[in-house]
Amino acid sequence: MGSGRADLRVREINLPDEIRDELSACLDRLKWIIAGVKAGGIEGWTRGRENASRQDASPCPPPHAAPGKARSAEMSTEEPKKPCAEPQLIEAALGEVGRELAGCTRCRLHAGRKNLVFGEGSAKSGIVFVGEGPGFDEDQQGRPFVGRAGKLLDKMIEAMGYGRPDVYICNVVKCRPPENRTPQPDEIENCSPFLIKQISALNPRVICTLGACASQSLLGSGKPISQLRGKTHLWRGIPLICTYHPAYLLRNPVQKAATWQDLKALLKVLAS
Ligand code: URA
Repeated sequence: MGSGRADLRVREINLPDEIRDELSACLDRLKWIIAGVKAGGIEGWTRGRENASRQDASPCPPPHAAPGKARSAEMSTEEPKKPCAEPQLIEAALGEVGRELAGCTRCRLHAGRKNLVFGEGSAKSGIVFVGEGPGFDEDQQGRPFVGRAGKLLDKMIEAMGYGRPDVYICNVVKCRPPENRTPQPDEIENCSPFLIKQISALNPRVICTLGACASQSLLGSGKPISQLRGKTHLWRGIPLICTYHPAYLLRNPVQKAATWQDLKALLKVLAS
């Protein structure tokens, strides 16, 4: 769609920052909705608009969407779902994992890192995103998904009706592989006890793996992402949805429609 142009116009108009940001976020959500319509066809869209079920009506925000995000009247009446655990307990458990990992030299990746990228966010939404490993920007800043792929992930999260602070974001490996290559099996294995402890501490309602590496690592599968996506898996009893990695989407925007289907499936799991 010509949303790029529309986005430019929004940015050109002299508006207070807050309103301009909100308008930009609306345009992003619209882009995702249109991608979803393209993927699901007019029928899916009509069903959603007629509100056959709340889930079908997504990409409206889920019941416990971030304050200030657009809400349907139906959703606003719903009580927010309880967080998985007391935030202080989660923080304490994550802190412990972080301390155990600090200064890690368990694999060769430590040699090239500037910063270990542990993960960040909250379990407020019940969603944990798992990526592959830090890239250049993440290594520089010590934070996950802060580069171009991260900006797209932010948009995906917003399209789901959440803000970045509402979700937890981490990676399979915590140190940047050289030249952003795929982490090797022994590197993944060395880091996996920490990922397991991290996810277990968060005890999310749903895990979303981004790309083949994270999906295959958590599911112990060798199948391609195209075969792993499109269904709800279980990881230690927690629903797990696989989708395309945002970096892949930057190169293959046509797959955004399929990704939106995956995110809608995730919202359904959350609403169930
Ligand atoms: N790609 C990832 O898999 N993780 C990040 O943190 C950034 C890019």
